[in-house]
Amino acid sequence: MLTDLISLRETEPTDIRRLLDTAQSFKEVLERPVKKVPTLRGKQVVTLFYEASTRTRVSFENAAKIMSADTTSVAAASSSVQKGESLLDTVRNLRAMRIDCLVMRHPQSGAAHLVAQALDIPVVNAGDGMHEHPTQALLDMLTIRQHKGRLEGLTVAIVGDITHSRVARSNLWGLSKMGAKVRFVAPATLLPRDVHRLPVEVYTDLRKGMEGADVVMALRLQQERMERGLLPSLREYSQRWGVNTKALEVTKPDCIVMHPGPMNRGVEISDDVADSGRSVILEQVTNGVAIRMAVLYHLLGGEAAG
Ligand code: CP
Repeated sequence: MLTDLISLRETEPTDIRRLLDTAQSFKEVLERPVKKVPTLRGKQVVTLFYEASTRTRVSFENAAKIMSADTTSVAAASSSVQKGESLLDTVRNLRAMRIDCLVMRHPQSGAAHLVAQALDIPVVNAGDGMHEHPTQALLDMLTIRQHKGRLEGLTVAIVGDITHSRVARSNLWGLSKMGAKVRFVAPATLLPRDVHRLPVEVYTDLRKGMEGADVVMALRLQQERMERGLLPSLREYSQRWGVNTKALEVTKPDCIVMHPGPMNRGVEISDDVADSGRSVILEQVTNGVAIRMAVLYHLLGGEAAG
């Protein structure tokens, strides 16, 4: 049984499947004129974000509200963190207000794990440094499954800045546990040092890496986490590594294109691909609400949606 959601590396395949199935059933609620079910009435969910977010924070808050939970959003930039309060003191004070669940994003890998050990309530990792972003990978898997009908046996090429990507790591663990074949496709300077110890095929040639792929996932260049000198120039990166119509010619004809957002249009993905019929990028965002509903539902022991 799930008690926290910190990483997909530590999540059992049965729990991943259960979360995907629950999210699939919750999607119907999102299409109702009145998006409200009583499932988590009386529960208090707090989002604590030490880094910027649009999709993850809003979708967690909307997911909680749709299920009738009360939500409070704490941005580190406007909290007592600015007065020097530590992470553990901050979360212990929030818990002292009798909250029921904490969703957190932090720039340090391992921060969510540390907090989960310190608190007696469910903690959800909404992204910790370069470690994991488990709900992003779950919503990606839900989107792939909707389009392909399965995950098992698919070839998923994750292209771009792998080193700095918690999305790539969570997708690698989640997708490989569900039977998909994952490829990391990147220049050598943007691959993690320990990549050869991971259950992944590695390509340093875009064409070879995308050949025959069922799914291409373009990653944002995370310049805020990048040391200098890893890239020659954005223009050259875009020419050699950008996911564009020409680069997609070697994939399967029904290959879908994903991106976790936010996109650097014209850098890791071209406008024509981002806005094409192959792009499922906005579907990923919609599925993000359903996945976060499922995560909160299982962690907080909600009743079946009415
Ligand atoms: N994909 C993602 O995590 O987006 P945000 O940073 O906007 O939450």
